[in-house]
Amino acid sequence: METTLTIPSFSPDNIERILSDTFIERVDYHSEIDSTNRRAMEIASESPAGDGPILVLTDRQTAGRGRGANRWWSGSGSLTFSVLLGPGAIQLPAHRWPLVSLVTGMAVCEGIESLFHDLSPQIKWPNDVYLSERKVCGILIETTGGRLVVGIGINVNNSASEAPPELRDKVIALCDLSTVQPRCIDVLVAVLQNLRAKLDLLSSGDASLREEWSKRCLLTGREIELDIHTQRLRGKFAGIDGDGALVLETETGLQRCHSGIVTRFA
Ligand code: BTN
Repeated sequence: METTLTIPSFSPDNIERILSDTFIERVDYHSEIDSTNRRAMEIASESPAGDGPILVLTDRQTAGRGRGANRWWSGSGSLTFSVLLGPGAIQLPAHRWPLVSLVTGMAVCEGIESLFHDLSPQIKWPNDVYLSERKVCGILIETTGGRLVVGIGINVNNSASEAPPELRDKVIALCDLSTVQPRCIDVLVAVLQNLRAKLDLLSSGDASLREEWSKRCLLTGREIELDIHTQRLRGKFAGIDGDGALVLETETGLQRCHSGIVTRFA
């Protein structure tokens, strides 16, 4: 029988640090769990909406959910967590919730940059984070009863060389690029601190956010293919508008797309 050894990434001291240094008010920690997003949705259905931000954290996620029908690869050494946000943590009308994925991507970029000064992460609309043209982080936002679950997976010490063959040339981990071994707890705290700051800017309607995410955009100037359900659109990426929609320059003119998956970019 095959057994998987999980080296714990998080100690009780680490949990204390999360509670003292970030906006998280409760940590729901599991040495192993199927999906932190699934667990966060479960907590949301059990606890009152007035609860402060709750972090669901695990050393090992066995059935991570991705966008659409995708699964999330969480090799040993990866960082996987979800933040359950209630109305107290984010004052934003529901129609602006799509912007949360963009600011979460920015929080991940800035968290990484604050620890690894020589890395330059970029955002692939709407919410993937890339390093050296490969995916280092995936974000999955789900909503339930007026609350948001922000699920984040970051490849930290799970090297791309250990990824399933079909992913190996598409993903990258921080340990693949950094000369010092990254620590999941440092990355987590840095991302959570930046997430709080970005959510505050978003709630206050700060106009600088748009400029910031344009600067970080991986797709600028590229020809892309965008799949929206069964429809495939092709064109030149022409930016992101104030609502967070992707603007595509097609043969028939500009098209604003509020959802979809960019399946190709060149
Ligand atoms: C994607 O790129 O398709 C999104 C991936 C999101 C993965 C994270 S890992 C933590 C959280 N829990 C999940 O089950 N999924 C998200």
